[in-house]
Amino acid sequence: MKGVILAGGLGTRLHPLTKITNKHLLPIYDRPMIYYPIEAMVNAGITDIMIVTGGRKSGDFLSLLGNGKDFGLKHLNYTYQEGEGGIAEALGLAEHWAAGSPVCVILGDNIIEWNIKAAVADFRAQQKGAKIILKEVHDPERFGVATVREGKVAKIVEKPKQPESNYAVIGIYLYDGRVWDIIKTLKPSDRGELEITDVNNWYIQDGTMSYEVLNGWWTDAGTFKSLHSAASLVAQGGANKLG
Ligand code: G1P
Repeated sequence: MKGVILAGGLGTRLHPLTKITNKHLLPIYDRPMIYYPIEAMVNAGITDIMIVTGGRKSGDFLSLLGNGKDFGLKHLNYTYQEGEGGIAEALGLAEHWAAGSPVCVILGDNIIEWNIKAAVADFRAQQKGAKIILKEVHDPERFGVATVREGKVAKIVEKPKQPESNYAVIGIYLYDGRVWDIIKTLKPSDRGELEITDVNNWYIQDGTMSYEVLNGWWTDAGTFKSLHSAASLVAQGGANKLG
């Protein structure tokens, strides 16, 4: 299984912190943000990793990460997203490298307390389809929100004004090798982006979407509030724990 970490975008919600650098290079307590998703992948046994970056200071990823030695890797792959075409567009940029292969995708500003080894192993056993990870939150309207019925995800709505549940879809996704063709069928949303939620709804319609509910804390770090809370959570007990 290949791993793709999405670390592009302009991070406008974090201005002026992101006026001169990429959001994923900002510190979360004692490490740059991008370290956390890489570590999460490596802990789950995924070592063939591509980082999709873009925006400001994208060259700094190479200076910071090199070939991934800090994570016990021998090599890291990089590609570049021009503009702000959305998460699914960014993922599509990895197709030339990952075509036909299943993939684990992590949004570069998502940080988790525990490892995702079991979810990745379950997905390997599932063989076909996709898997998402849900977490109950107090502010679901900030995220993709899943409606679960009879043990299945019935639908996902991106940032609903009136959420049907408290289950946020966290930014860690597992897809089979069909994902590359699904991305090509997407149309831009109202915010002009190719939405990962549309990819997930495709798999729900196909009847091949599974899910699990995450243990431990999860946070994104794309707003001042969540950036601050990510740093405190990491400072208190650490992230990506092996357990
Ligand atoms: C993205 C996804 C959303 C998901 C979230 C997790 O939102 O579109 O479905 O719940 O990441 O962090 P964004 O924060 O990019 O607007």
